Amino acid sequence: MADDLELRFERTVQAESRIEPRDWMPDGYRKTLIRQIAQHAHSEIIGMQPEGNWISRAPSLRRKAILLAKVQDEAGHGLYLYSATETLGADREDLTTKLIEGRQKYSSIFNYPTLTFADVGVIGWLVDGAAICNQVPLCRTSYGPYARAMIRICKEESFHQRQGYELLMTMMRGTQQQRDMVQDSVNRWWWPALMMFGPPDSESTNTEQSMAWRIKRDTNDELRQKFVNMSMPQAEALGVTFPDPELKWNEERGQYDFGSPDWDEFWQVVKGGGVCNEQRIAHRRKAHEDGSWVREAAVAHAQKHAQKEGAA
Ligand SMILES: [Fe+2]
Ligand SMILES: [Fe+2]
Repeated sequence: MADDLELRFERTVQAESRIEPRDWMPDGYRKTLIRQIAQHAHSEIIGMQPEGNWISRAPSLRRKAILLAKVQDEAGHGLYLYSATETLGADREDLTTKLIEGRQKYSSIFNYPTLTFADVGVIGWLVDGAAICNQVPLCRTSYGPYARAMIRICKEESFHQRQGYELLMTMMRGTQQQRDMVQDSVNRWWWPALMMFGPPDSESTNTEQSMAWRIKRDTNDELRQKFVNMSMPQAEALGVTFPDPELKWNEERGQYDFGSPDWDEFWQVVKGGGVCNEQRIAHRRKAHEDGSWVREAAVAHAQKHAQKEGAA
């Protein structure tokens, strides 16, 4: 019986069909998905902070409206993804507690500070751009609810990337001071953006099993290369450079060669040693505590409703 179920699961995955919430799935598959989707959801929610920091100081009404819409989108992405974990039997309250207590991770990119308004543009261009590279293949991931959430999320991410690039184009047409701000911001975000694809394949412990289950569709190094190839012509059109002396076109490979990010820094930030790790979690904890009355009111309302129905 158990063998039948496992066989059916394997066949579904091999046939590029989707595993749905009520289908049997191996425990490891369920656990891996909950961990990955939760980490993704946390990243969307924590990712609201670095840019949210600039909403009240946006230089025009137009920029403010765009930034507000973008940051709100990220909240929506978090909600779709937390809902996807619930279809696997996870409890959202529990996931939030794990995030606040540092027992679950989020993308280390959000532990870097946003120092100027150019960072809003560079985050849209490079950080949302890297997120798109990571997320487009996830639209074909084997778990149905996750794949469907990603389709919607990717559409919004492409708006995020474009608004960032358009903002940078505008700044590059401005004063020398503005162009310097853009270049300084690119210098600070380039390496952390490359780290968003995770450690090199040789050190990535989960990749092989995730690829076999078709949760993951490309390896970290493949995606990183794709991102570099995609970003170079965009940097040239913009008139900025990336802070990597090894970055150059390789005729033979038909791709760009590039240097290696500082993986010691990566692990240090992942382990909590980034500039903003503490601040991000403290802010999330406060928002969660401040919102407790909303959750209590919702539960009280639901109970009242159930009582009324029971009486009827
Ligand atoms: Fe997002
Ligand atoms: Fe985004």
